Amino acid sequence: MNVSPTFVPRIRPHELPKVCVVVVGHTPEEMAEKAEFLVRDNPFVEFRLDYLSKPLLAIKPLQEFLDYHPHVYAIATCRRVANGGKFRGSIAAELDVLSKAAEVGCQLVDLELETALKVKPLQLKKLRERAALILSHHDFRATKKLRETLTSMEAVQADFYKIVGTATTLHDNVVMMKFLEEQSYRHSLIGLCMGEQGIISRILGLRAGSVFTFASAIAGEETAPGQVTAKMLRDTYRVDKVDTATRVYGVAGDPIAHSLSPLLMNTAFRRENVNAVYLGLHAKTMKDLRACMKDIPISGLSVTMPYKQEILEDLDNTDPYTAKTGACNTVVRGQDGKLYGFNTDVAGVVRPLEHKLSLSGAKVLILGAGGAARAAVFGLKERGAEIWILNRTAAKGQKLAKSARVKALRKPDLKKLTFDVIVNATSVGMGLSKDSPLKPEEIKAKYVFDMVYDPLETPLLKAARLRGTEVIPGIEMFVQQAARQFEIWTGKPAPADEMRRVALMELQERSAHAAAKKNDKKKEK
Ligand code: ATR
Repeated sequence: MNVSPTFVPRIRPHELPKVCVVVVGHTPEEMAEKAEFLVRDNPFVEFRLDYLSKPLLAIKPLQEFLDYHPHVYAIATCRRVANGGKFRGSIAAELDVLSKAAEVGCQLVDLELETALKVKPLQLKKLRERAALILSHHDFRATKKLRETLTSMEAVQADFYKIVGTATTLHDNVVMMKFLEEQSYRHSLIGLCMGEQGIISRILGLRAGSVFTFASAIAGEETAPGQVTAKMLRDTYRVDKVDTATRVYGVAGDPIAHSLSPLLMNTAFRRENVNAVYLGLHAKTMKDLRACMKDIPISGLSVTMPYKQEILEDLDNTDPYTAKTGACNTVVRGQDGKLYGFNTDVAGVVRPLEHKLSLSGAKVLILGAGGAARAAVFGLKERGAEIWILNRTAAKGQKLAKSARVKALRKPDLKKLTFDVIVNATSVGMGLSKDSPLKPEEIKAKYVFDMVYDPLETPLLKAARLRGTEVIPGIEMFVQQAARQFEIWTGKPAPADEMRRVALMELQERSAHAAAKKNDKKKEK
């Protein structure tokens, strides 16, 4: 067979892996080393050559790497500063880098539209003879005019058209997905939204028609805002399995970035073989959340701060706990398309305690009078517990006590009483705070249950443990309210042990990370 030396087999889009991992490094050697490590799990990588001060020095290591891994698909990118990259050279220099990368085996090269429009067609033709061309366009502010952008891109012949917007609302993801659905029959498209609110598009964009999506190699090495790690895309969100039958769930709130819910729920779906995916929905307004729920459409929601009350307006019916507490943390879209609201925070409080003692007649002190306290008061009262409420703002505590027909306690009376259980339903002790809602000598109970779950051991729990009191960490509440949501959505028992295991691992990892950071800062000083 007579094959020209520049012959490059055309890439068949459907053969490409769904996740392309972005490789960056300070030196060509570091880049090659990272690629070597990544390639064990990732057969598709993008070399961001613009991250190197002298990209041409990477060509030789790139050749060695690709010779050694012929099964790997590789994109070469050398984006210029003007278009959001780091390369400070000229257009001609960028083309030279891409062309040499193609010569040594990168099957795909990425060129921004802005650059391509300034290049002679013959030069582009030559480049395309060596590698498949991804023509890309990035909007770092918004997701708009996608069709117009594609039309202007069509002036340049390319193998793939990559259009990246920035999500400033959840609905921007819907805009991107509709665009992909409408246009992906005409071209091989890659589409996604950057930004923390754009994560939906990175996962659901594939089923809308994006040929593949991008991921970072490790956390902290993101090359675009909102990028998640390849491991997370595959293991947590199972992007390889997301198809049109996959039901979509999510946690809606503001903020949402540090929510443990996606990890817990996706773990549960995987463990129980449920074809569903659970996303973080950072909704800055209720209006945005509504629009997103209508268009995606979402099968169920976990609702968190600040929408637990506001969501009530959108529900067609609610369970008695929602009605009693005036707050909903779980939404289900029924077969009839209607939205039903549940409150599983109640189960989150009751279940961990029921595992320890009989609640009928148990004396329970609840600290706080906000939403969390309401779930505790109504749930425990229903189980027959005798309840006292103690709140910083006494009037608010009295009001809740009156409406629930339980007792309100004044701080000076605290020392006269002992309890079976003390429940902390205030936010005191959260994060790095050293505060506790009670002094050690005020902890007179068999069990102390803290609804704060981060840190794992709050100052209150530490003080209680030191006094020999049995403690129930807040993670129990978090796991049990999530387990109940899982049951409502799927009709299956939740894998609560597995959910607890991953939640604990994640929290431990986060606290180790925070401690290491603190240490680094100390050293800097
Ligand atoms: P949530 O929905 O999580 O319960 P919330 O409705 O804002 O949140 O309620 C917070 C609860 O923590 C309230 O009972 C609040 O007491 P006030 O009613 O006096 O505001 C309580 N809380 C918050 N910070 C506190 C602090 N530093 N000391 C004591 N109680 C505190």
